Amino acid sequence: MSMKITDIIAEKRHGNALCDEAIRLWIDRLEDFADYQNSALLMAIAMGGMDARETLTLTDAMAHSGDMLDLSRYGDATVDKHSTGGVGDGTSFIVMPVMAATGKICAKLSGRGLGHTGGTLDKLESIDGVHTDISEERFFEIVDDIGIVIAGQTAQLCPADKYLYALRDVTATVDSMPLIAASVMSKKLAAGAKNIVLDVKTGRGAFMKDENDAKTLARTMVDIGRRSGRNVSALVTTMDMPLESAVGNAIEVRSALDVLSGRERGDVYEVAKALCAQLGADGEAFDRAIASGAAYEKFEQMIYALGGKPGCLQNLPQSKYKKTVFAPKSGYISDINAMTVASVTLDAGGGRRVKEDAILPEVGVKLHVAAGGRVDKGQPLATLHYSRVGDEELAQRLASAFVVSDEKPIVRDRIVCKVE
Ligand code: URA
Repeated sequence: MSMKITDIIAEKRHGNALCDEAIRLWIDRLEDFADYQNSALLMAIAMGGMDARETLTLTDAMAHSGDMLDLSRYGDATVDKHSTGGVGDGTSFIVMPVMAATGKICAKLSGRGLGHTGGTLDKLESIDGVHTDISEERFFEIVDDIGIVIAGQTAQLCPADKYLYALRDVTATVDSMPLIAASVMSKKLAAGAKNIVLDVKTGRGAFMKDENDAKTLARTMVDIGRRSGRNVSALVTTMDMPLESAVGNAIEVRSALDVLSGRERGDVYEVAKALCAQLGADGEAFDRAIASGAAYEKFEQMIYALGGKPGCLQNLPQSKYKKTVFAPKSGYISDINAMTVASVTLDAGGGRRVKEDAILPEVGVKLHVAAGGRVDKGQPLATLHYSRVGDEELAQRLASAFVVSDEKPIVRDRIVCKVE
C-alpha cells in the first residue's frame, strides 16, 4: 500500500473528501500511527467535515475494528436504544423492560458516565451485588432466559472508538458531527440489534447544544443505520432541564423503579413512551406493560440475573446526609438548570472527573418540583444527598439551579421531532 498517513492528513486538511481506501487504511492501522498523526487527522475532519459516504465508511471501518456481536439467532426481534447523553436520563431502565415485556429481545451494551452525563452501568452497579462485566456466554444465557440484559461493552467491541474517543477528549474534537455519528453508530452496529432508536439530546445539558445540529446528527445517524441494514429512527429531545426527578446513580434507579411501578409519571414517562413507540410498542402497549407490573418484573429479573442480592431494590444505598433547598419566594418554576444539577452531583462524588475516579453510588439530587409548577415561598425544591462532610456547601449551588418567576412560563415539549 503506497498511501501514507501524512498524505491522508494533507488530503483532508486541503478540504477534500477521503476515498474509502484511505479511511479503511487509517482505521485498520490506527495503532501503527503516532497519537499526534491520528490527532491531526481528527482535527482536519473536525474542521473540514465529512460527506455521507465518508461518514458511512468511517462508521463501518470502526464497527469492524473489533468483535461484532451476533444476535442473528433472535431474528428481527432484537431492539436497542441509545441516548447521546443527558442529565437525570434513566430512560433505558424503562424502555428496555417495557420492550422485553412486549416480547422483544433486549440485549444491550452500555457505557459509563462521560463528562457531566450519567452512565447506565454506573447506575446499575449502584445496586448491591450487580456486576455488568459479564462474559459473552453469561450475556447470552441471560438473554435466552429472560429476554433482557444490559451489560458493559467489552474491550473487544469497537476498540477504534475507544482509542479515538480518548484522543478526541483531549484534542477538542468531540463535538464534530461525523465523528460523533461514527462513534455512536459504530458501537450500535457492532452491538448487533436489528431495531434501534436513538435519543438525540439538544440544549444546555447535551453535547449538541444547537437544535439544528442535533437534527442533522439524528438524520446522519439514521441514514448510516438504514444503509447498514438496520431499522433505525431517532427522536430529538430537549436536555435543558433534568429529565427525571432524580440525578445520580442509586437515586436514579429509585426514580426508574417509581416509574416502572406506576408511581411517577412526568417527562421521563412521556419520552420513554415515545421511544418505545419507535421500537413498535404503541402507547397502549406501553401503559399496559407498566400498569400490569410486567415491565417492573423484567427489570427485577435482570437485576437478579446480574448478581443483585436479595432485597437489593428495596435497600438501595442511602447517603449519610441530606440537605434540602427551599423556594425563596412564591411563584412558578421557570427553569431548573441541568448543568448546575449535574455539576453538583459530580462534585458530591456521583460522577467521574477522570476515568480512574471511584464514584459514590448513593449521592445525588432529588427534585421535588417540575418546570411550570406553582410553588409557595419556603416549599422544598430539591434535596442534596451527600456523604462527605463539607459537601453540604453544594446546596447553595443547587439552589441557584432554580428560577422562580411571577408569570406562569410556557414549558416546551420535551420531544422536538422524530427522524425516520
Ligand atoms: N457518545 C458517543 O458514544 N460518542 C460520541 O462521540 C459522543 C457521544
